[in-house]
Amino acid sequence: MNNFWQEIKSPAFLLAPMEDVTDTVFRETVSGMAAPGRLNVVFTEFTSVEGMNHPKGRERVSERLIVSESERELLKKLNIKLVAQIWGRNPEIYNTVSRYISENYDFDGLDVNMGCPVKKVIKTGSCSALIGESNLAKEIILATKEGTNLPVSVKTRTGIKQHQTEEWISHLLETVPAAIILHGRTQRMQSEGDADWDEIAKAVQVKNQIRPEIPLHGNGDVFSYADGLRKVEETGVDGVMIGRGIFQNPWFFNPEKTEISMEERITKLLEHTRLFEQTWGGIKNFNILKRFYKIYLNSFPGAAKMRANLMEVKGYDEVYGYFNPK
Ligand SMILES: Cc1cc2nc3c(=O)[nH]c(=O)nc-3n(C[C@H](O)[C@H](O)[C@H](O)COP(=O)(O)O)c2cc1C
Repeated sequence: MNNFWQEIKSPAFLLAPMEDVTDTVFRETVSGMAAPGRLNVVFTEFTSVEGMNHPKGRERVSERLIVSESERELLKKLNIKLVAQIWGRNPEIYNTVSRYISENYDFDGLDVNMGCPVKKVIKTGSCSALIGESNLAKEIILATKEGTNLPVSVKTRTGIKQHQTEEWISHLLETVPAAIILHGRTQRMQSEGDADWDEIAKAVQVKNQIRPEIPLHGNGDVFSYADGLRKVEETGVDGVMIGRGIFQNPWFFNPEKTEISMEERITKLLEHTRLFEQTWGGIKNFNILKRFYKIYLNSFPGAAKMRANLMEVKGYDEVYGYFNPK
């Protein structure tokens, strides 16, 4: 097994899996803006193993696992690893689907989602609900590992209603995952309140006692590269995962780049739009793209007006025309 997790030098920086955000276009865009070595791992959106196991469901669900050739090429060139995130409840299906993904795709790793707190998901007993069913959680990780030669990591939270970090992390470590990514909130906290990095530091301590060789990465409220480095220093995590921070600064993984001109922002917005059109034109709704425009259009005079104008456009050509009027 090629366990890339062991090869990444600390401090590692990871782009978080985000549904409806981290598709192949977004990952390629963000990776293309990163400085060499500053972004180490990217993830797909979470993908249902039950959906993947269903011949009909697979057609739709597998959109989440699409990796364009240009993305793959770029990630290989920059040595950024690509991990498919999966979720579900049935260990046998995890086993089948992890084998299927390994045989039919070119990912560097698989990640089991044991963190999503969304009601309709936890009602199925999946994701963060598995923190409350620790034996089943263990079976799932072992069944996934059995189905694949890829390294299998776990992304999770600190507990259900309260932090139960030590107990939960010790339990997970018994399955010897390739890595653990810990979001410092409980299921109940959803995305409210502050991520608790003291809990993440506790997890590091536990891990260092039981399985020091397994990397543990922290997640939650890291909004600058410098803050990520500080968190690594203060808590002993091997790296940090960035979710919403990327919406505040798409150049997040290029920390030396502090001055970004309006022209450069618009150029990136247009590149992003072209890539989205090439990849998803006729498949995904154009309006999905609008949420990304806010990321680029800020920090210069007139940005708010531009953002408002772009919210009104109805298609790709209108966007190109807006910036390049004939
Ligand atoms: C729009 C959105 C979609 C998300 N989708 C996923 C997902 O598919 N899988 C997952 O494990 N976490 C998902 N998350 C949670 C993030 O990966 C991350 O754990 C969380 O946002 C906390 O990190 P942050 O404070 O850096 O944003 C999502 C978060 C957001 C904001």
